[in-house]
Amino acid sequence: MTNEPIDLAAALTRFDQLWSPRIVTRVNDYDVRIAKVAGEHVWHTHDHTDEFFLVLEGELRIALRDQPAEREVVLPRGAVFVVPRGVAHRPSSAGGASILMFEPSGTSSVGDRHDDVPAQVDATTGHPL
Ligand code: NI
Repeated sequence: MTNEPIDLAAALTRFDQLWSPRIVTRVNDYDVRIAKVAGEHVWHTHDHTDEFFLVLEGELRIALRDQPAEREVVLPRGAVFVVPRGVAHRPSSAGGASILMFEPSGTSSVGDRHDDVPAQVDATTGHPL
């Protein structure tokens, strides 16, 4: 953790692993995390917290089970979206994206409940940048 300004574009050059969030800073008891993503994440649910997404590059899609029918939101670069606590969701990006997430420190990337975690997804509470 640093007390200096953080250049997110530079931070994104410091790692390549997909679906493996890096903690860039903390705000009270929340992490600001960035991740590179491509392909599909896993269906999962955070029982105790909302999850904030900001798309830095590319396009992110988030499939949601918050209605009787499953739906998918499309987030272009610059879009923000909050997945409410308790809502099953599965992020994906066909063309690849870089994203920023804001959530309580210790929040698992695969939630409290999830389907089988595929090999390309890192189940983590976030790594140091
Ligand atoms: Ni999530």
